Amino acid sequence: MKSLVCNNEAARLEALYQYQILDTPPEEAFDDIAFLAAQICNTPIALINLIDANRQWFKAKVGLDVQEMPRDTGFGSICIESGEILIIPDTLADERFATNHIVTYPGFCVRFYAGVPLLAPGGEAIGTLCIGDRVPRQISPKQVEALQAFSRLVVRQLEIRREFAQLASIKQEYKQGQEALLDIVTDAIVVQDLDNKILLWNKNSEELYGWKSEEAIGKQSDELFSTEPLPQNLEIFQTVLKDGSWQGELQKTSKSGKKLIVESRWTLINSEHSQAKSIFVIDTDITQKKQLEKQFLRAQRVESIGTLTSGIAHDLNNVLSPILMSAHLLKSKNCDQQTNQMLSIIESNAKRGADLVKQVLSFTRGIEGNVQGQAAIRPCTVLQVKHLILEIQQIISQTFPKSITVYTEIQEDLLPICANSTQLHQVLINLCLNARDAMPTGGTLTISAENIWIDETYVSMHIEATVGAYIILAVADTGLGINSEILDKIFEPFFTTKELGQGTGLGLSTVMRIIKEYGGFITVSSFVGKGTKFKVYLPAVNQVPIPLLEDTEILTGSGECILVVDDETAIQEITKTSLENYNYRAITAGDGIEALAVYAQHKDKISAVIIDMMMSKMDGATTIRTLQNINPLLPIIVVSGLVTSDQVPIDKIDEHTAFLPKPYTTQELLKTLHAVISQ
Ligand SMILES: Nc1ncnc2c1ncn2[C@@H]1O[C@H](COP(=O)(O)OP(=O)(O)OP(=O)(O)O)[C@@H](O)[C@H]1O
Ligand SMILES: [Mg+2]
Repeated sequence: MKSLVCNNEAARLEALYQYQILDTPPEEAFDDIAFLAAQICNTPIALINLIDANRQWFKAKVGLDVQEMPRDTGFGSICIESGEILIIPDTLADERFATNHIVTYPGFCVRFYAGVPLLAPGGEAIGTLCIGDRVPRQISPKQVEALQAFSRLVVRQLEIRREFAQLASIKQEYKQGQEALLDIVTDAIVVQDLDNKILLWNKNSEELYGWKSEEAIGKQSDELFSTEPLPQNLEIFQTVLKDGSWQGELQKTSKSGKKLIVESRWTLINSEHSQAKSIFVIDTDITQKKQLEKQFLRAQRVESIGTLTSGIAHDLNNVLSPILMSAHLLKSKNCDQQTNQMLSIIESNAKRGADLVKQVLSFTRGIEGNVQGQAAIRPCTVLQVKHLILEIQQIISQTFPKSITVYTEIQEDLLPICANSTQLHQVLINLCLNARDAMPTGGTLTISAENIWIDETYVSMHIEATVGAYIILAVADTGLGINSEILDKIFEPFFTTKELGQGTGLGLSTVMRIIKEYGGFITVSSFVGKGTKFKVYLPAVNQVPIPLLEDTEILTGSGECILVVDDETAIQEITKTSLENYNYRAITAGDGIEALAVYAQHKDKISAVIIDMMMSKMDGATTIRTLQNINPLLPIIVVSGLVTSDQVPIDKIDEHTAFLPKPYTTQELLKTLHAVISQ
């Protein structure tokens, strides 16, 4: 039987190489074929021989210990050139073969050879399936047929092997494509099995939840989002199993403890046999949307409360006026002493009622003014706050419990402001009353006032501020502190934690309204168990720049290099510029990971690090710990808009570290920097 053999060496080699078989480990399928060939032909030697450009390499071998031999050794090359079965019953009997190394070399001594070419589907002879013996012998036609069948089996096996590899690579590409697609979408995509074990965690899940894919995969989902209420999870899980899907809002917590609200869509994935296999979860971050919604609802609520109360107050006025007038009239008639006394009681109580109404009305008018975006006309005079503070100090010392010590700290040359003294009085009294209530067992109340020049650095961190001269009126207590959960509610009208009848919850909202009327703003920082400080910023009348303190000279750097880590580019840039203006050099990093990379690279150059606590990729706390592991003496300034100390991971006693609440001015930054560096 003559085959169609392709004699082109290049095509032959190409056909061989596409199988990617050379130098691969032994495989059972090929070993079995070689074994059967030796068995059926009853020879001690059988080989699956693949013929490379310069060598013969054996994919399977029986009775021979070498893995490969030169191309011209043996009879393989002769066999593939002819493209036909080659049978040599006695190698020594034919002078063409008698001198071949495989015949003469004592280790081989091959006397019998039969080889069938391995023909690829294109007809290329890529090798042989051959048998051999050390004694001369014959081979029956049936054995020849078997050898030919085995040679076809070898090629088929090679084909299967190649298709399998192709399929695997297509599958891999498909998988990579799928993963890339999952990473492109802006949602967090998570696949978990029915035991809640995470199987897939896309890039956006890493960004949203802070867990790296290698940290998340294999974990239980509630290990990552520990604050999710478990019963709710169970209910969702059961719904998904029953209906195939679930959709709704969930509260989750990121690795750094950030509370997130996500719109979550769960879909059940079934196996080919329609068995529930896993759950596909898509989470869209709606935290900000929710916050805006909350703000909007709050504004609406405040507005409707305002309208409602002003209506009631108005009606109450109408009720109280006739009572007052009548009581007054009756008193002028000559009644007996007891009646007169009762009339006086009626009159004074009705007056008190009218005063209350006036108070409510003044409050609601303020709200209405704010809601409509127009500040009320402010009756204002140029005011020296110092006198006001001293006056308040006097009232407090006379009326507050003796267990509360009052201090005042007023900067000399405090700039005047433009305000109404009664209203400002109201602001300070409200803050002081709150401070008193926060110190039921006594403590220290400090009222202070100082000038401050609000610069661009500060403005970039606080939207209500504008560049210019302000004074800060601060009221600090050493009381209970405010829990971070209620901190953003305290300025809401009617928000109070005090018992019924003890507080209306209007104090701080009134303070806020008045301050806003004067173009100012208020910040609060509070440490639970340690105390609270409210800072009221009011624009000074005299808008000339306030020179930095005389020690500016000392505060200026000497070319030290500072690493600024903040995930807001605007803050990064302005901090860098400010530092450079004061003879520091600055390198910036946008997140914790980048910061560590930069620090590792410029360790010897960097004198201090300024780092923001809340960053999405690797939070400040982790970054700081890692930096301190590299260099325990590295001066670090932790900055944060957060106001609770428990979230600031620095050792309060360590002089190389400092906490600087955001927003801050360049001067505050320079001062703090100078303090940590000079330690
Ligand atoms: N210095 C402070 N320390 C601790 N908590 C405070 C402090 N100031 C305010 N708060 C909290 O903020 C809440 C709201 O204060 P706000 O002054 O608006 O109302 P109130 O004091 O409860 O009532 P009102 O001032 O109308 O008598 C308080 O109930 C309290 O929980
Ligand atoms: Mg109050």
